[in-house]
Amino acid sequence: MPVEIIRTVREMQKRSGLIRTQGRRIGLVPTMGYLHEGHLSLVRLARKHADVVVVSIYVNPAQFGPGEDLDKYPRDLERDEALLDRENADIIFCPSDSDMYPVGYASYVNVEGVTGTLCGASRPRHFRGVTTICTKLFHAVNPHFAVFGQKDYQQSLVIRRMVLDLNMDLDIVVAPIVRESDGLAMSSRNVYLSGEERRDALLLNQALRMAEERIKKGERNAVNLIGAMHDLIAAGRHTKIDYISIKDPDTLEDLEHIQDRALIALAVFAGETRLIDNVIMTV
Ligand code: PAJ
Repeated sequence: MPVEIIRTVREMQKRSGLIRTQGRRIGLVPTMGYLHEGHLSLVRLARKHADVVVVSIYVNPAQFGPGEDLDKYPRDLERDEALLDRENADIIFCPSDSDMYPVGYASYVNVEGVTGTLCGASRPRHFRGVTTICTKLFHAVNPHFAVFGQKDYQQSLVIRRMVLDLNMDLDIVVAPIVRESDGLAMSSRNVYLSGEERRDALLLNQALRMAEERIKKGERNAVNLIGAMHDLIAAGRHTKIDYISIKDPDTLEDLEHIQDRALIALAVFAGETRLIDNVIMTV
């Protein structure tokens, strides 16, 4: 069966109601489209655990700040449709702006605490936009589970917090980061990079690998590690560091001394393009 496109919330809700009455399990993969292997790995994971795989494609204006790339964000539904067809996805849910944010829109979901740091500190309303749209997608699709990527580690943590706090009846599954063969984390935004910026972008993953190596060799001091990563990345001609942090993966509190588990997360501009990457270490 070719993948089917559903464009309205009402139709999506009707369909998911029907699927549920048939006792079938719905898996949702929320995306903003312009799909790459990272997205497709989430679709494959959903395929393993669901009878019906729904992939949402919606570039959500509420999670972009002023001056960010909402207008130039890459979009190509035909290409996405062909890719999802190949993955045996069942439904693409791509609602319109007027369906998602009707005139007079005034309701937002806000998670406190874990949104106050990392990307939340640099992009003040970003997570409010993400939690709001995910709530709306969950209401439209009513999935048994939804799959998110570790690439946006903080996002997955914020969504888990929201689902727990607001008693939402679905499971959140988090899938590993998919990388290009040279280590660059896949991202729809990588298409913005010029050749030289793309080369500098490799420094993000190289810095994470260096930190990983040093931790394996016994380094435990976060300030030393961050300093070394900083020097490596700042040497790029096109890089501008937003943050490099070492955090408790559950609370996102800064770690001074690494023990048990540590999240090493960074956000770096390569030219105008903001890239993020992370690794979770267990020592
Ligand atoms: P988007 O950036 O399109 O990403 C959709 C999902 O794909 C997210 O869960 C993200 O973590 C995951 N993903 C992206 N790159 C990945 C990679 N290289 N490896 C593994 N997974 C990867 O994240 C969003 O959209 C939006 O914020 C959204 C949740 C859809 C809400 O609008």
